[in-house]
Amino acid sequence: MNYHILTLFPEMVESGLNTSIIGRAVAKGILSIDAINIRDYTKEKHGHVDDTPYGGGAGMVMQAAPVCDAYEALCDRLGKRPRVLYMTPQGSVFNQTIAQELAREEELVFLCGHYEGIDERALERIVTDSLSIGDYVLTGGELPAMVMIDCISRLVPGVLGSDLSAEIESFHDNLLEYPQYTRPEIYEGMRVPEVLLSGHHKNIEEWRRKQSIRRTWERRPDLLERANLSGKERIYLEELKNTCNSPDSMVSYNSCDEKRCSSDAGNACKNIK
Ligand code: ADE
Repeated sequence: MNYHILTLFPEMVESGLNTSIIGRAVAKGILSIDAINIRDYTKEKHGHVDDTPYGGGAGMVMQAAPVCDAYEALCDRLGKRPRVLYMTPQGSVFNQTIAQELAREEELVFLCGHYEGIDERALERIVTDSLSIGDYVLTGGELPAMVMIDCISRLVPGVLGSDLSAEIESFHDNLLEYPQYTRPEIYEGMRVPEVLLSGHHKNIEEWRRKQSIRRTWERRPDLLERANLSGKERIYLEELKNTCNSPDSMVSYNSCDEKRCSSDAGNACKNIK
């Protein structure tokens, strides 16, 4: 996977993506990160890449020419025209399904705007996808690009130590991840659930799956509509719904509303085994 980031702040992207798992994958040659400075493509003698908006208004707008020229120079270099993902709060909200789809590409271009945005004509000419990381406004597209690159990269074969861990995790199958424990067996009087010490793999798997369903129902019930549950698991979910009060929003969950089910392992319901 080769990422090309069109930005006015290449050092921000380079330093942010040079560490930990992504940095290691770059060092191994599984990923490459090419931060392209849009400013290098301005033809203005003072190096300006922005100007005031036609029609008036606050702030500055990034000009079309340096953005398009930076992309065209990249296309000439690659001999193809890769997808251009524009980072904008007006885009579709990025999620795991979009990440899986993007992870199949060989080249991806991330276009990061600053100031009041980019001249619409550049966007019309080169952008293939507009993506947001959530309903809030940041000062630029670099952080969203880094978030997406991190998420997509861990789905690229060879980036994680074990490809299995990318699969069995929150949002795989639209279920949240089950709780994890490590040594010691007892911490401050809190015990690791017995089943995890049993060595009985089938029981452990069943327990984890139930924990995932329970967590998803408590924390993100919206995801369950798209989850792939077996007949037995559907019955379990119905039992959960009948036994616990339904958490009606993230707000009630986050503020530890007493409507939330009480816990025997992290956040499990008392009377469901
Ligand atoms: N640029 C500014 N805010 C953004 C957001 N929420 N997502 C993507 N790009 C952005």
